This record gives sequence, structure tokens and C-alpha cells, in this order.
Amino acid sequence: MTVPEHHVLALSGSLRAGSYNTALLRAARDLAPGSMSVHVHSGLGDLPLYDEDLEQHPFPEAVHDLHRQILRADGLLIATPEHNAAIPAALKNAIDWMSRMPGGSGMSGKPVAVAGASPVLSARCGPSSACARSSPASAPKSSPSRRWWCSARTSGSTATGP
Ligand SMILES: Cc1cc2nc3c(=O)[nH]c(=O)nc-3n(C[C@H](O)[C@H](O)[C@H](O)COP(=O)(O)O)c2cc1C
Repeated sequence: MTVPEHHVLALSGSLRAGSYNTALLRAARDLAPGSMSVHVHSGLGDLPLYDEDLEQHPFPEAVHDLHRQILRADGLLIATPEHNAAIPAALKNAIDWMSRMPGGSGMSGKPVAVAGASPVLSARCGPSSACARSSPASAPKSSPSRRWWCSARTSGSTATGP
């Protein structure tokens, strides 16, 4: 059995149980090669709305949990719909929290791939638009290792809706 070399944290911009975007991430997890593990995080809905008053130590546990998972990951895979031509509030909220973590978000320098599986293409929320650029904390950096993201995304994943 191959031991995974790359650990990918998958975040869905949709909280609903029947989400196409979460289905895409599950498909990526199920179809990932043996050298890659994909963990689909399901806790974005547990994060409190960002509030500077909650930046007391310790931070809320759900915030710490996401941060720990990001620190452990070699890269992120984000699948998200577009909400009113912007990234969904839950995803933006997560980015806001991570950008406030003492010591950094843990995202800087890691490859980040952004995909969309909505019936209407999440075109304005793609890698080259506001979704990836919305925060320096989430801005993907060029790296040779980005290539394995591409292979993960083109290995035949087919997301099916509920
Ligand atoms: C509040 C709201 C705003 C939306 N805004 C857009 C939008 O701006 N552009 C778009 O293409 N689809 C928009 N949609 C449609 C979503 O992209 C669509 O519902 C998508 O399937 C949701 O993704 P999910 O299946 O992962 O939950 C919106 C949906 C909601 C609920």
C-alpha cells in the first residue's frame, strides 16, 4: 500500500448537505492517487462570524481546528459556488479568521486550487479572480508542486449532485 506523500485539505464554499461543490471534493478524495490523501473539511459552518472581540486567547475551537488542519496540509483544494458574484460568506469568513491567526494563516506558500461545480459556472470565483485573491493569506504561490494539483483535477473526477 502506498503511503500518501501529499496531504490535501479540501474546503467547500457551500454548507448545504446536497452541495455539488462538496460532492466534487468527495470525488477528488475518492479518486485521489495513493500518493495523495484528501481530507474534506466539514466545519466551516461551525466557525463563528468573524468578530475582533472573539480574538481573545484561546480563539474559538472551530477556528483552531481549521487552522491546525491547514498547517498540516501540503495544499488546499477549494470548491465553491459563487454567491451574488462573490465568494460565499462562509468561505470568506474562514479566510478572515485564518488571516488573523497569530503566526500566520498557514496558507502562505502552499498551493491552492479553486474549482467550481455549480450548475452555473462559478466563473467569477475562479482561481484568477476574487476567490483566490481575496486575501494575501489565501493567495496561491507559484511552485513546481502546483503540478500535482492539476493532475488531481484532471484524473476523471465527475461530481454528481444529490
Ligand atoms: C444566495 C445565493 C446567491 C447566488 N449567486 C450566484 C451568482 O452570483 N452566480 C451564480 O452563477 N450562481 C449563484 N447562485 C447559485 C449557486 O451557484 C448554486 O445554487 C450552486 O449550486 C450552489 O452550490 P452547491 O451545490 O455547492 O451548494 C447563488 C445561490 C445562492 C443561494
